Amino acid sequence: MDQPALDVTLAYHQRSKHFPFRFAPSLGYMDWQTQPDPFRRFEGAQTFPLGFEPVGPLPRYEPAFVLGQVDPAPLNAATVARLFYDALALSAWKEIAGGARWSLRVNPSSGNLHPTEGYLVGGLLPGLYDKPAVYHYAPLVHALELRVELSPQVWRAISAQLPKNALLVGLTSIHWRESWKYGERAFRYCHHDVGHAIACVSLAAAGLGWDARLLEGVVDEGLATLLGAHLQTGVEAERPDCLIAVFPQNGWPEAKTQQSFRLETDLIAAVRAARWMGQRNTLSQDHHDWPVIDEVAAATEKHAPPGDDFWSSFSHRNDSLELGESPLSLRSIIHQRRSAVALDGLTAITREAFYQILLKAMPGSSQIPFTTLPWRPCIDLLLFVHRVADLPPGLYVLLRDPARKNALRSSMKPSFLWRRGHGCPSSLPLFFLAGGDVRHAAQQTSCDQAIAADGAFAVAMLAEYRKPIEVFGPWFYRRLYWETGVVGQVLYLEGEAAGIRGTGIGCFFDDLTHRVFGLEGDRFQVLYHFTLGGPVEDPRLRTHPPYQHLVRDAHNAIKPGSLT
Ligand SMILES: Cc1cc2nc3c(=O)[nH]c(=O)nc-3n(C[C@H](O)[C@H](O)[C@H](O)COP(=O)(O)O)c2cc1C
Repeated sequence: MDQPALDVTLAYHQRSKHFPFRFAPSLGYMDWQTQPDPFRRFEGAQTFPLGFEPVGPLPRYEPAFVLGQVDPAPLNAATVARLFYDALALSAWKEIAGGARWSLRVNPSSGNLHPTEGYLVGGLLPGLYDKPAVYHYAPLVHALELRVELSPQVWRAISAQLPKNALLVGLTSIHWRESWKYGERAFRYCHHDVGHAIACVSLAAAGLGWDARLLEGVVDEGLATLLGAHLQTGVEAERPDCLIAVFPQNGWPEAKTQQSFRLETDLIAAVRAARWMGQRNTLSQDHHDWPVIDEVAAATEKHAPPGDDFWSSFSHRNDSLELGESPLSLRSIIHQRRSAVALDGLTAITREAFYQILLKAMPGSSQIPFTTLPWRPCIDLLLFVHRVADLPPGLYVLLRDPARKNALRSSMKPSFLWRRGHGCPSSLPLFFLAGGDVRHAAQQTSCDQAIAADGAFAVAMLAEYRKPIEVFGPWFYRRLYWETGVVGQVLYLEGEAAGIRGTGIGCFFDDLTHRVFGLEGDRFQVLYHFTLGGPVEDPRLRTHPPYQHLVRDAHNAIKPGSLT
């Protein structure tokens, strides 16, 4: 084990905690002069505009979450366009009458700062380009920017390890986008956002009948080169996060395993020597340094593929999950998703709706998007229930891995009841811990944000923390946040589907939350909060469609167009 890297990682986590009397170090004010551009562009790179397939009723929302329920679409320019449109595109513009205007995306982001960048690595794509290549996805114009052509040998070495008709989606983070506002805690937010983006890719793929799997055999240096991040230095550099194989569902043959995928040294050397195209834009004219973020980023780099114990065959049988007959459309729900800025303090949901939301958050054996993550689930949900009909308000816990029950029970308050909820499906490991009005506790632990008290229920995502980081290595610290982001994205979509609305909560008081549940030490740590309830719209805001600003000429070339 790399003890110094582990020490840096654990120390970072500790110093980036918020306390009621002391927030994690940040600038403490908004420095509008250095506000980063939310859109990375590669100037001079050849740009391929992607098409827009109107959002229709199919596939249905419920079945799309289960592998094998949607017929696989062919791989071509139109389906690649849809993959990115449903995963990482703009989804709306907001405007304060006569004032500021800003874009929002399919993937949520703390502070709407969007540190996550998306890449496509693929072979020749009918209707798009006739050579294997690496492209950057530019959400502002819904287009791919050609970064490098891959030689046929390089693509053969990659695709030989993948199912037929596979492509790769890569994600990177620009830490500066988040640290500009949030200072030292920003590293956490970047990785929540990666988790949300992973789930977005997984669900966009699911809508096409495609599977999405994280390729964890890839190490960070190789990934940086494949995505062109090795050419970037300085505060605005992108850091490599992950590579996701996307391919037709049930297409992964026995002989090729997700586990054995590698970017070998000679392949990486060939990519490094290739001709990269496009100059990255400057995001801010000036910067503030947050050296602690660079330190933890270095400490949590992955230098070697994980050992056999990392790959999990864990699967939970999620028998009670309903595929139902609901006409809800997956793509409509994806594109209408929004964070609630305020909740009404009134709306209740039914007990059945509550259980269905929680069932969706369980990592079932063929349940998307959890099929994308290859490790045994580390995140459980601590619940503050406020307004669920026929269920007593109070504290609950959902064990996403029921094997953790004894460890958690002995770590939490001895007075907790650990009683099954009324009418709770047998496949849902939900336990009632203590009754009472927990609105104040939810609000107080969420940096005093009223949305945590004004919903139907709020969530604190608890990670099994110390042991997996020690066993797998400090790079797993980032994965813990990814898992919370994936769970958070499911909660966002489930909120929309249930007719309520969710909001991710990155601002919370870590140890105060632990205290509510009687948790001490660092065996378990809370990494993300969430709330769901009846939304209150802000009447000052107007909403506009996502791509009205694009004007495309007869040759389908994009012009910047007008934003008004
Ligand atoms: C990781 C994460 C943390 C967030 N933390 C908070 C928070 O503490 N309070 C809040 O009101 N909203 C929070 N949000 C919501 C964001 O502000 C929101 O996602 C962003 O403004 C974009 O809006 P949209 O989600 O409607 O696309 C968070 C979102 C994410 C993804």
